[in-house]
Amino acid sequence: MLLRERGADVIAVEPGEAMAGEFRQALPGVPVVRGDGNALPLAAASCDLITYAQSWQWTDPGRSVPEALRVLRAGGALAIWWNTTAFDVPWIREQHGRIAHHCGVKPRSAVRPSDDDAIRLAGLTGLRVARRQVRWSRTVSLDTHLANIGSRSAFLVLEEADRQAFFVDERERLVKIFPRYEVEETYVVDLLVALRP
Ligand SMILES: C[S@@+](CC[C@H](N)C(=O)[O-])C[C@H]1O[C@@H](n2cnc3c(N)ncnc32)[C@H](O)[C@@H]1O
Repeated sequence: MLLRERGADVIAVEPGEAMAGEFRQALPGVPVVRGDGNALPLAAASCDLITYAQSWQWTDPGRSVPEALRVLRAGGALAIWWNTTAFDVPWIREQHGRIAHHCGVKPRSAVRPSDDDAIRLAGLTGLRVARRQVRWSRTVSLDTHLANIGSRSAFLVLEEADRQAFFVDERERLVKIFPRYEVEETYVVDLLVALRP
C-alpha cells in the first residue's frame, strides 16, 4: 500500500489461495498473481524492486536469487526483511522465552547474526548488499496483540486447550504491565537490500 501511494506500479505474488484472498480483500486495487518466489510469474527485466516481507525464508535461495535477478532490471533491488524481536525490551524478551518454552521450540538468540552471516544465510553472497536495522513501535489492543501471537505457526499446531492455557496466562501477565489493555509492541526490522549488477 505504501509503495503504491508513492506512485509505484505494484504486483503482489502469493502462492497460497487463502492468503491471496486476504490480500484481495485488504488491497482490492492491487493485482495479486498466484506464484512462488522460486519461479516468479513475471517477465525478465520487468521490475525495479522486488520485496519480501517475512517470507524470504520460505523460498529456496538457490532458485529465488536467480529468479529475482532475472526479473529485476539492471540496477534494480531485491529487498528482504523481517520484524525481529526487540530483546532489549524486558517484557518482550521474557514473552519470547515463554512462547518458546510453551511451544517447545528453541528461543531465538538475542545476538544478531553478523552482516556476513546474514548475507550468507539469505543466499546473497557475491552480490552488493546493504544491511540496516530499523526500530519501530506500534500500540495495539491487548486482543490484537494476543491474536497476532496466536497466528504464528508454532501455536497453530498446538491442541486448542494447550493454546488457551497459554493465552489465559499471558493475558493475566500483560494486563499487569498494560492496565489500559493497550500494548506497545516494539520490533527491529532487519533489512537486506541486494542490487542487481
Ligand atoms: C509470514 S507471511 C508474511 C506476509 C506479509 N508479507 C507480511 O509481512 O505480513 C509469509 C508469506 O510468505 C508466503 N510464501 C510462502 N512460501 C513462499 C514462496 N516460496 N515464495 C513467495 N512467498 C511465499 C506465504 O504464503 C505468506 O503469505
